[in-house]
Amino acid sequence: MSPQSSTSLLTGRRVLVVGPAFAALAQGPLAGAVLEQAGLERLIGIGRGDADLILIDADAFAPPALAAGVQALALAAAPPPVLVAGAHLPAAVARDLLRLDRSDILDAPFAPEALTAAVAGLLTQPEPAAPTVPQAHDVARCWAVIGAVGGSGASTIAVEIATQLCGRQAKEKSVCLIDLNLADGSAPAYLGATPSLRLGDLAAAADKLDPAMLQAFVTPVTKQLDLLAAPRDPGAFELVGRETILRLLECACDSYDWVVLDLPRHRRPWTLEALGGCDEVLVVSELTVPALLAARSLSDEIERDLGNGNKPRILLNRVASRMFGPAPSTAEAERALQRKAEAGISSDWEAAAASVNLGGPISTHRPKSKIVKDIQALVERLAAQAQATKAA
Ligand SMILES: Nc1ncnc2c1ncn2[C@@H]1O[C@H](COP(=O)(O)OP(=O)(O)OP(=O)(O)O)[C@@H](O)[C@H]1O
Ligand SMILES: [Mg+2]
Repeated sequence: MSPQSSTSLLTGRRVLVVGPAFAALAQGPLAGAVLEQAGLERLIGIGRGDADLILIDADAFAPPALAAGVQALALAAAPPPVLVAGAHLPAAVARDLLRLDRSDILDAPFAPEALTAAVAGLLTQPEPAAPTVPQAHDVARCWAVIGAVGGSGASTIAVEIATQLCGRQAKEKSVCLIDLNLADGSAPAYLGATPSLRLGDLAAAADKLDPAMLQAFVTPVTKQLDLLAAPRDPGAFELVGRETILRLLECACDSYDWVVLDLPRHRRPWTLEALGGCDEVLVVSELTVPALLAARSLSDEIERDLGNGNKPRILLNRVASRMFGPAPSTAEAERALQRKAEAGISSDWEAAAASVNLGGPISTHRPKSKIVKDIQALVERLAAQAQATKAA
């Protein structure tokens, strides 16, 4: 490739130059290009429309800052091609560059001809297909699931509800399950999926988050189901603020027909607003006296603090035949709750264990389980009510 061919390729192209090394080449190999000089922060949320090519002078930045910049690029929904020049590229940077469809590395110091060849190589590569972004739709239905006590089965039920909703959709990418137990959510493990919601990157990109960028954080689970869940991290809740989480939820509701939230029991700065945006709040209790009392208190607190007339519905989980122990009956449970339960979900330890151990919903591994039938009936009833409200 001659210098001349690169020049003609660059004529009129917008080239984002990050770091000083390339600026000096404006009259040489980069002649004809429309150059924009910027810092690494410009890479957050960058897309195809911002530049035709990005050149990064790796040696101008401290490795952590450089790694964060390249990571931001790797997260962008449709990043422009990128060329990084440097003497000793950190491994984390090289790894993130490999995730990009169009990227190249140039050893510094480099000859102008080497730059020309690398630029031409990148610019002549075909553009990758645009990522699939869920289609816009009227308005998402959002259901929240929250446990009254730890281990009551909230995550199991959230996973099964999301799966049942998928079975009712013809459209791809129509349901999103969001695990808001940010530090140690179990939805990814229950689904056998790898969490890809990197909270530090989400916080950095929050201002620019839109449905296209959201796709950089989701884990596709099936054709219909996407998962938003963060990798295990004890400090996760401190990584993201209220606005970031609310923006994430807003974008998810703009992107999918159905959004299911697996909510942590303990209140976070964003909990009430998240609940306020939901069409249904499902409080999961087990059939023990402490759990029933906790379910009653939690439902009362949510109803009082939302103040919009919405009442949580209570699901009684692990309902078993009485002959197996001194558990309260449904009638006794409703007396303790001082309200009717919305539904009972049968106990089936074998099916639940098969699901968590094999990774995948109970409806996949044990489709005949009573848990599946009970949740199917619940979803049908609630979805029919949602449909009726929408039509009214
Ligand atoms: N209906 C059921 N029958 C039998 N086992 C169940 C049932 N529902 C849930 N389980 C099992 O109970 C355990 C706890 O369930 P799960 O993790 O869903 O609860 P959780 O409320 O989300 O817990 P955490 O408080 O940790 O978030 C899991 O091992 C799950 O497989
Ligand atoms: Mg859970």
